[in-house]
Amino acid sequence: MALLSLTLSSQVVHNLANLTWRSSLYSLALTILITILFLAVSTRLWGYATLYRKIKEVDQMKDEFISMASHELRTPITAVKGYLSLILEGSLGKVSSKMKPAIQKVMASANRLGDLVENLLDVSRIEQRRIQLNSKNVVPTAIVQDVVDELSLTAHNKKLKLNFSAKDSIPKINIDVDKLKQILINIVGNAIKYTEKGSVDVSLQVVNNKVAIEVKDTGIGMSPENQQKLFEKFFRVKSIKTKFIQGTGLGLWITKQLVELMNGSITVESIRGTGTQVTVTFPVNQLARK
Ligand SMILES: Nc1ncnc2c1ncn2[C@@H]1O[C@H](COP(=O)(O)OP(=O)(O)O)[C@@H](O)[C@H]1O
Ligand SMILES: [Mg+2]
Repeated sequence: MALLSLTLSSQVVHNLANLTWRSSLYSLALTILITILFLAVSTRLWGYATLYRKIKEVDQMKDEFISMASHELRTPITAVKGYLSLILEGSLGKVSSKMKPAIQKVMASANRLGDLVENLLDVSRIEQRRIQLNSKNVVPTAIVQDVVDELSLTAHNKKLKLNFSAKDSIPKINIDVDKLKQILINIVGNAIKYTEKGSVDVSLQVVNNKVAIEVKDTGIGMSPENQQKLFEKFFRVKSIKTKFIQGTGLGLWITKQLVELMNGSITVESIRGTGTQVTVTFPVNQLARK
């Protein structure tokens, strides 16, 4: 009996020793494996971090280049436009009827180039968070009216009706007047640009304690897929109807950024072939409310 228990316990001790030896081998192997994995993952992560830093540097260089190039282009374009106006007015001598259309074409191109440069400058200012807001509490009715007046000739030249209606009791909103004008020129400008016949209706009202500016047109409209991409940088609908309409595809991206900077929001509803409605809302300024 004693012999049996002695044999058993020596077997147990042997097994245990065997087990301990094996488990330390396993844990060593596991530690080596984990270390290798850790090193591999760290190297990868380090690589990604370096790549990310490089991409950011290149991106910043691109932004700085666009900003610098746009600034440099602005001055000569202003000079070209100034001299072309003088020529067209006849201040530098008589312009023959043969020359006039050619000079007008050059002027249109200079204007396009100027718009592109201004758009690129806006994009770089927004991306580098260099937009300075000069916000005030104002009733926006007169501002919307100004923009409608400014664009009425463009609408008239296309034989479009441009209407404006506003409720009497529009409360104050906290906005930068120049930025609101820029936003509205973009939206009402688009409505006129992408409408062949019919009308553009601009209205101002209060909806759910927000001031809503609605711009509704009877234009070419957009498909649901295109509406989804509308606020992307450089996006333009590609169709036979838009092929000969000029633009940069930056207007609505800039518009959305400016609206959101002033705590507003912008939505679009559109039916292809029927028309588009763009709505911009800004919260009513409760403190300034009378
Ligand atoms: N009122 C509208 N009706 C139809 N399409 C529009 C309207 N507004 C914008 N779009 C479409 O959205 C695109 C992006 O608009 P935007 O950013 O202002 O660029 P741009 O007018 O310079 O092309 C336009 O190219 C046009 O295809
Ligand atoms: Mg536009």
